Amino acid sequence: MARVLVLHGPNLNLLGDREEEIYGRATLADINRELARQGEAAGVDLEFYQSNHEGDLIDRIHAAKGRVDVIIINPGAFTHYSFALQDALRAVRLPVIEVHLSNIYAREPWRRQSLIAPVARGQIAGFGPFSYTLALQAACRLLGQG
Ligand code: DQA
Repeated sequence: MARVLVLHGPNLNLLGDREEEIYGRATLADINRELARQGEAAGVDLEFYQSNHEGDLIDRIHAAKGRVDVIIINPGAFTHYSFALQDALRAVRLPVIEVHLSNIYAREPWRRQSLIAPVARGQIAGFGPFSYTLALQAACRLLGQG
């Protein structure tokens, strides 16, 4: 069965309680539960991982090589300054889908730059938790399963 790794970066563990006017009321567990349901229906195996630490995310990306078919990642604020995450994603040569709950282009100017976009197949931003649903749909399409 095809495998998709869903990575959540820093502060996303606080979803539901964090700047609700921007990120909404859904918790990370809610988002993962909905994705798991969607994955099951599509016949795709999902793995979830959240970390507030750049190095942990990088280790997880390295470990995905050869085991995972697509990476869906919301890198949180690392999006905007982590060359190390960019390098790690490039190094493993797996298809990457970048996700954001908020529309990063409609917020502070410093959020308009993504260091992940150059190594991603595509980016989905601005649809709240539905951004993840769209990302998994895109992953299924890449896998020829949707
Ligand atoms: C975010 C957008 C980032 O700018 C921010 O730092 C986050 C969340 C989003 O999902 O909208 O932590 O990635």
